[in-house]
Amino acid sequence: MTPDHGELLYEGKAKRVYASTQSDCVLVEFKNDATAFNAQKKAQLDDKGRLNCQISARLFEHLEAAGVPTHYVGLAADTWMLVKKVEIIPLEVVLRNIAAGSLCRETPITPGTPIDPALLDLYYKDDALGDPLLTQARVRLLAVVNDQRLSAIEQLARRVNALLLPFFRSIELQLVDFKLELGLTSSGELLLADEISPDTCRLWDCKTMNAEDRILDKDRFRQDLGGVMQAYGEVLKRVQASTCNPRNCM
Ligand code: TMP
Ligand code: ASP
Repeated sequence: MTPDHGELLYEGKAKRVYASTQSDCVLVEFKNDATAFNAQKKAQLDDKGRLNCQISARLFEHLEAAGVPTHYVGLAADTWMLVKKVEIIPLEVVLRNIAAGSLCRETPITPGTPIDPALLDLYYKDDALGDPLLTQARVRLLAVVNDQRLSAIEQLARRVNALLLPFFRSIELQLVDFKLELGLTSSGELLLADEISPDTCRLWDCKTMNAEDRILDKDRFRQDLGGVMQAYGEVLKRVQASTCNPRNCM
């Protein structure tokens, strides 16, 4: 089912954004396109859009219930989400609880090393530049955001991590690392935006110790491990079965 929507405003690698009937909201359509390594690797994965849309919705609902300001308004269809209109801040904020991925390629840290407190890495959101890692000095130099806004972003990201860690633990998933994007409404409110899904998180199944079997996220696609949609389906099943709420699950 396709909800009533206005003109296409933006198309990214995994989503399309359309005008909605509410001037302060937009409709996001989650696509089945999968990309990795800055879109050098591409595929169509049947049902990915629905799985990521539904998983993101449940996670945004959990965060909203804990008082985290997000762009999420509600689901409009299986693969469609109504969200508040924001201007996306060109930063990708990555929180790392366990060493994996680029951190282990770029430093001598052994994969699987616990990181506590979580490492917060900032990347400049620019596909043409390949989303480069930033330093705080470079954030200042580029004037992406001012120091006050940066500190609000970091605080919000750490709060999200502190809420998602026990949420995923309660459904026997280890939140290894994840990427967040934030946006500003026309009145200047900072909101958590984009999506939170197996495309943007590393999630390991605590029910198995096998290093390949436990991967339930986009690393299955990146590393050609197969069973990508089965893994996302398992995440959705657990996320929907979760009874964790911010009061009983900290
Ligand atoms: P990394 O280890 O490749 O730096 O990725 C860290 C986390 O960020 C991981 O959970 C995947 C997510 N991520 C994205 O959501 N989008 C991206 O473009 C990249 C590179 C990583
Ligand atoms: N999201 C990025 C891409 O589409 C990279 C990744 O997730 O590995 O290429």
